[in-house]
Amino acid sequence: MSIEIIKGENDMPTEIPTRATFMLFGGTGDLALRKLYPAIFNLYKKGSLSTHFALVGLSRKALTDEEFRAKIIESISSETDDKAQAEEFASHFYWKSHDVTNTDHYKELGKIADELDQKYETDGNRIFYVSLAPRFFGIVAKNLKEQGVLSTNGGFNRLVIEKPFGRDYASAKELNDELTSAFNENQIYRIDHYLGKETTQAIPVIRFGNPIIEAIWNQNYIKDVQITLAEKLGVEDRAGYYDTAGALRDMIQNHTLQIVSYLAMDEPNSFVDTEIRREKVKALESMEIYDADGVKQNFVRGQYGAGDGTPAYRDEPGVPHDSNNNTYAAGKIVFNNPRWGKTPFYIRSGKKLATKTGRIDIEFKKPIVDIFAKGTHQPAELKSNVLTLLIDPKIGITLEINTKNSAQGMHTETVDLSYLQSDARAAEVPLPYERLFHDILKGDGTYFASWAEVAAAWKYVDPVQKLWDTTQPDFPNYESGSMGPKAADELLARDGNSWYFPNK
Ligand code: BG6
Repeated sequence: MSIEIIKGENDMPTEIPTRATFMLFGGTGDLALRKLYPAIFNLYKKGSLSTHFALVGLSRKALTDEEFRAKIIESISSETDDKAQAEEFASHFYWKSHDVTNTDHYKELGKIADELDQKYETDGNRIFYVSLAPRFFGIVAKNLKEQGVLSTNGGFNRLVIEKPFGRDYASAKELNDELTSAFNENQIYRIDHYLGKETTQAIPVIRFGNPIIEAIWNQNYIKDVQITLAEKLGVEDRAGYYDTAGALRDMIQNHTLQIVSYLAMDEPNSFVDTEIRREKVKALESMEIYDADGVKQNFVRGQYGAGDGTPAYRDEPGVPHDSNNNTYAAGKIVFNNPRWGKTPFYIRSGKKLATKTGRIDIEFKKPIVDIFAKGTHQPAELKSNVLTLLIDPKIGITLEINTKNSAQGMHTETVDLSYLQSDARAAEVPLPYERLFHDILKGDGTYFASWAEVAAAWKYVDPVQKLWDTTQPDFPNYESGSMGPKAADELLARDGNSWYFPNK
């Protein structure tokens, strides 16, 4: 068994726990079948999870263990051709029909967990993964504690919850209070899958591992920062959830602001979760919270109309014909802190846009004096240096810099220095859920959102949502297949800026 000592907030220090019993609420849900089981299987295949593990799948469905195992084998089929290995893996899976409101069911679950602890020698380590509608998070946590499902023999208890974490600050706080009445903050892992992405995890290294970058990572040198999380897909079959969430709650409050926090934070004393979280929270709390006028000036919402031969949002299955939900949101964040002063961070995310891309474009200021412009041979203006961090679908880093054009005479031109991860290397990158499960097993909270971060993000987003809930939009206001509403271009134009992507 490999032993690794990690220091950090979550039940730390501890060794890599290769042993655990998982209890997965929502055991045959879409997320579990598509993402979670393949992730656990990959950890198992790579040896990060020993054979000392078991998983109990839970939901109201009546399934036999065999039926459940068949679903597991199907769910991991694209990860392996080794039938024997897949069957051995699946043999660790058990099914229990479970009603989250029935206290007797938790008592029975506690007994099953004790038996599995014994059978698989899991040292009493327990991971509770709640992949259910958010209204059930609190009741599950409470019953796990009150009905004695938590391990009491010195093993760890860790609670993993999916988004959405509330609909606003008040509901998030209520939920958090419910969770923390049963689990400590350092036992709670709030999943944000963007924190499992390679480029997000690389941001601290790119910044703090390169003095040439960190030295200029401030308002003196950076003109603006642009974060784009664009999707080609529309609402698909998730209208029930999405029509009550919208881009602001679905993508901005969590994924986008998490990325903002890594880009904006000051250097932590060391790379452990407590230190990193402290700096991320400080950054998020120094975002200027807008009043209604500020929201009008600095945020833009959109909803897709028809385009590219596909229907408008309001004509999608399950969406009310008069829906005012936002399928696009953009905003300008300003920080009240010495590092960022008035350097704006522009953010945007939307569905049914021209392309699927996740990217961060950092535009640097131009030289104060362009000495070449005064020469007799200078035709072109120097361009801003732009550092781009590519998140999706390609992982990479590019830097635009000015140099001399090789033609006769002194002419400048801008070239791209670029590192794009090869397909072969990209294929080896662990999927977000695999990384996050690994961290949960280690007890490392670095790439999970702490309550203070979630709270700060909601406090920032709440006034935007409030204004949007109480004013009538003119929807639809962008065509499917475009890059969003015109107002999002005007937002930057007012500052003399423009979206770097896809225009440059
Ligand atoms: C999810 C949102 O969190 O992220 C979805 O609920 C969105 O609406 C998805 O499609 C995007 O994730 P990715 O990894 O495909 O960019």
